[in-house]
Amino acid sequence: MSKTHFGFETVDEREKARRVRGVFDSVAPSYDVMNDLMSMGLHRAWKAYTVLVADLKPGQRVLDIAGGTGDLAQAFARKVGSTGMVVHTDINASMLRVGRDRLLDAGLVLPTLVCDAEKLPFARDSFDRVSVGFGLRNMTHKDKALAEMHRVLKPGGKLLVLEFSKVARPLEKAYDWYSFNVLPRLGRFIARDEASYRYLAESIRMHPGQEELKGMMKMAGFGHVDYHNMTAGVAALHVGIKC
Ligand SMILES: C[S@@+](CC[C@H](N)C(=O)[O-])C[C@H]1O[C@@H](n2cnc3c(N)ncnc32)[C@H](O)[C@@H]1O
Repeated sequence: MSKTHFGFETVDEREKARRVRGVFDSVAPSYDVMNDLMSMGLHRAWKAYTVLVADLKPGQRVLDIAGGTGDLAQAFARKVGSTGMVVHTDINASMLRVGRDRLLDAGLVLPTLVCDAEKLPFARDSFDRVSVGFGLRNMTHKDKALAEMHRVLKPGGKLLVLEFSKVARPLEKAYDWYSFNVLPRLGRFIARDEASYRYLAESIRMHPGQEELKGMMKMAGFGHVDYHNMTAGVAALHVGIKC
């Protein structure tokens, strides 16, 4: 079996999938509170910007991959309206369940389905937009997942990859201190799970930087790829067009 990374550890590929599932099974109930605390609310602005760049029109079809508790799916659904469709998906049923309940509470009934981004159960050329918010980092074969996202997009469609990225050099030390000291402690006190938040910090460090991810998206077939740094590169939005 091939090896891969789980944070800073080298593990078998199957072991990584099992551990990632464990992380999200564990954090699902406190995921939204932790997101607000850890990012001091910034994830809301990053997602709002992603929705702006998605530039959705009523009637369009959107696939939200690794959709978790449904922030992006909810915002996209408001944009495409009742004539459009947003499919809310994730590999993890615990995360998806929290998301589905939140969407229902917001008055939205969306098709919600458990699926692996590396094997999407949709025909080619199905969607106007595909999004993946803070999910790509956790996938074992990012190249396969990106190729699948490209396959299911319609020609001219847009992929939006919102993910943690490489922070600007002057901020590196402070960001490292925050990530490896504050995040695991917040995890311990709020989510009763220090290890998952240590994994979060490590997985961000192991994730490809802005230029590398852009190259991977081009390799997956995207004709035009650009990225927008946010909060000095703490997060970046990569946008790929299927030409
Ligand atoms: C940090 S959460 C992001 C949730 C949401 N998109 C957000 O931005 O708040 C990452 C999600 O990626 C999902 N995930 C990990 N590997 C996946 C895969 N191979 N296919 C689909 N989803 C995956 C996890 O289950 C988890 O719900």
